[in-house]
Amino acid sequence: MVQTELDWKLRTLEGPSTPWCTVDGKKVLMFCSNNYLGLSNHPRLKQAAIRAVEEFGAGSGSVRPIAGTMSIHLELERRLARFKGADASLVYQTGFAANAGLIPQLAGKGDLIVSDELNHGSIIDGTRLTHAEKAVFKHADTADLAQVLARAEQASPPYRRILIITDGVFSMDGDIAPLDEISKLGAEHGAMVYVDDAHGEGVLGEGGRGIVSHFRLGRDRVQVEMGTFSKAFGVVGGHVSGSRDLVNFAYNKSRTWLLSGSHPPAVAAACLAAIEVLESEPQHVQSLWDNTRYFKKAMVDLGFDIGKSQTPITPVMVGESGLAKKLSSRLYEEGVFALPIVYPMVAQGKARIRTIMNAALTRQDLDFAVRAFEKSAKALGII
Ligand SMILES: Cc1ncc(COP(=O)(O)O)c(C=O)c1O
Repeated sequence: MVQTELDWKLRTLEGPSTPWCTVDGKKVLMFCSNNYLGLSNHPRLKQAAIRAVEEFGAGSGSVRPIAGTMSIHLELERRLARFKGADASLVYQTGFAANAGLIPQLAGKGDLIVSDELNHGSIIDGTRLTHAEKAVFKHADTADLAQVLARAEQASPPYRRILIITDGVFSMDGDIAPLDEISKLGAEHGAMVYVDDAHGEGVLGEGGRGIVSHFRLGRDRVQVEMGTFSKAFGVVGGHVSGSRDLVNFAYNKSRTWLLSGSHPPAVAAACLAAIEVLESEPQHVQSLWDNTRYFKKAMVDLGFDIGKSQTPITPVMVGESGLAKKLSSRLYEEGVFALPIVYPMVAQGKARIRTIMNAALTRQDLDFAVRAFEKSAKALGII
């Protein structure tokens, strides 16, 4: 087999994903996990999972529509809908399964899907599975989106449905989609709006409720709010929230949901506990943002280019892929675990170290990381 630039050397965590963790035998500071709030190792989540194993067993035994729906799955969906302020929610095995299962059902022949050019791969794959026509608008560019929608209005015969899809927070740059403007355009053009809030949940909005809450949008403006339990919630599982009709449609139609086994009870219980923690322990989201502001300022003061991030995802721009890989290796030697993002995951010349902030890091940890960045980047002539 030929080695390519993208062949991943899989780094292995020997223990939980905590701020200081052991990766490939070395104690390092975790700086690239999606476990934003540290919930993956929260005692309430762990206890809930253990209790669920004792009460319900290790597995569900089936797909959801046959014999794989347990009371704990339904309880999770009720609690999630309440948390999101939606009529109903549906939980999928993963976020990928939600996008790949629902998008192709929402739009078919005679419909149009309009997608941000930087949308996540699971949206792209979901879109590939439809017979709908596809159009792309320039990243977060609502003027371009308006033009695409205006052109779509001229189509003959007219499209039956237009579905606009965008990430909420873009995972490579950490910028926030202008969902207020996007949803306004959606309303003006009679289009349905679908947001993938994988990186906004637990981060944006009231108590981490996500981007729809952040922009205070109604369900009439954003019809499908999709998300995942695999990031800030610290567990695994995708979900969609919206109207009761949407959820009824989603579970009757999504093949990934209908034809693949349901979550083990421990997963459902841990997800439920994560929602409870978000509702009752606001300090995690607060400290995530305090840490984010502290780190960004320290990095900018040192002369680093941190792109256009508005969230706890902070890219440290480096340029060439080789240089980003060297910086990542040096950081690891200095005790900081942060991975390079290189071409073709990002455009040529836009390679970076993508850092992701964590609520559980202390000021001492952050100073340690900033010093490691400074020393390694100076040695490589980056700053
Ligand atoms: C924007 C976005 N959507 C969807 C997913 C998929 O989520 P999951 O890990 O739950 O499959 C991810 C994960 O990388 C993501 O970043």
